[in-house]
Amino acid sequence: MASLAVWCLIKPFIVTFVLSLPAEGAVVRQYTCDSYFQSWCQLHNATVHMDTDVQASTFPRVRQLGFIYGSIGNFSHTFNNQLFKAGVLRVFARGTRVTTLTMPSTIEQLYLRDNGLRTVEIDPRTRYLLRYLRLQMNKLRTIARFEHLTQLHELNLCDNLIEDVPLDTFATMPALRQLILCGNHIKTLGLATSSPSIIHLTSLTHLDLGGNFLTRLPLERWQLPQLINLSVRDNLLTTLDSDLLVRRFPLLRILDASANALDCRSYHEALQTFVNRSVVHLIDRRMCSVDDAIVLDAVEMGRTNRIEPEAGGNVPVAVRHLKERIFLQQRTIQQQRMEIEQLRANLTTLMEQFDLVAEPARALDPF
Ligand SMILES: *[C@@H]1O[C@H](CO)[C@@H](O)[C@H](O)[C@H]1NC(C)=O
Ligand SMILES: *[C@@H]1O[C@H](CO)[C@@H](O)[C@H](O)[C@H]1NC(C)=O
Ligand SMILES: *[C@@H]1O[C@H](CO)[C@@H](O)[C@H](O)[C@H]1NC(C)=O
Ligand SMILES: *[C@@H]1O[C@H](CO)[C@@H](O)[C@H](O)[C@H]1NC(C)=O
Ligand SMILES: *[C@@H]1O[C@H](CO)[C@@H](O)[C@H](O)[C@H]1NC(C)=O
Repeated sequence: MASLAVWCLIKPFIVTFVLSLPAEGAVVRQYTCDSYFQSWCQLHNATVHMDTDVQASTFPRVRQLGFIYGSIGNFSHTFNNQLFKAGVLRVFARGTRVTTLTMPSTIEQLYLRDNGLRTVEIDPRTRYLLRYLRLQMNKLRTIARFEHLTQLHELNLCDNLIEDVPLDTFATMPALRQLILCGNHIKTLGLATSSPSIIHLTSLTHLDLGGNFLTRLPLERWQLPQLINLSVRDNLLTTLDSDLLVRRFPLLRILDASANALDCRSYHEALQTFVNRSVVHLIDRRMCSVDDAIVLDAVEMGRTNRIEPEAGGNVPVAVRHLKERIFLQQRTIQQQRMEIEQLRANLTTLMEQFDLVAEPARALDPF
């Protein structure tokens, strides 16, 4: 509210006319920065509603503008025009109510978080300059028409309600490095019809599909030659073809497949493959029957160590107990790892509250 200075440029003889038709340009709302963080001008609790209000508003002449709380309602063409007139290139809105977003064509970086956003309008005939787009913690259900955002380097749609993601949507984005889709309801990574069966994303280094409902990964159709970091954590995967995975993604260095119910075969194969390829991996073995593994291993160990069963009936039991303890310890380590991740995530959230958006340099950095 502090940001809102209202100048009533009213000539005495048209007072009644002006009051009944404030949209005629007689009332100007001039927003000024409440505070700065780094070089972001921040507006707290601004309420920008009807298009007629927007037409009569001017925004600070800054390149980086941030809204904290408040309400924009319709992020419309008119609103975009006013931002353009003020020379704004980067926008964030955190906790600000935005129900409809008409994608701005002149903004380079747009970071919306927790806005109750349901609809994004993208015009196929418009050429968008947008390079960084985050629409986190919103209510989007579809990514229809996102293929027209051809200049994107980073797209983050975490924590929305998206169910279907045709991966070829992103094939129109040659510079896309980070595709972060965590915390949605994605069940399929299908293809839009009439597209080639192989999806080639030439620049993608970081793909996050964590926290979705995927039951399989169509690895044979993905060609991601630059992929370094892949997360499929917390999905419904029961198998993982780790061999195919490392062949499809030759540069892969980090894989998080934890919190999936992988079968024992996938688990053992994955361990071998990833250790062999020096891929840092997080995989748990929730569905592996401990006993099966132990019995098998114990039998084998008994054979290789030439332990005579009759020489000590207790040896396999002792081995089994030790293995069980190792398994439990490993599980503890796994849980602690997850807690570290959680802490990290919390830290990131906290940091984002102050340093809300990454500097372009940081945003460009895949790590
Ligand atoms: C913005 O509004 C919230 C309540 O909605 C209030 O707690 C906060 O102090 C306001 N901030 C400013 C800068 O007016
Ligand atoms: C937002 O703008 C569209 C047209 O651009 C209009 O149809 C819609 O009713 C507006 N919604 C609100 C909440 O103002
Ligand atoms: C480890 O990788 C090498 C090639 O990098 C391969 O020849 C070998 O068979 C692999 N071993 C296992 C156990 O996968
Ligand atoms: C992280 O934050 C969430 C919600 O704010 C909280 O429930 C959780 O306990 C936190 N995690 C840790 C490890 O502090
Ligand atoms: C790898 O991806 C995960 C999940 O998106 C992310 O939390 C982690 O920070 C990334 N690691 C690096 C080193 O980029």
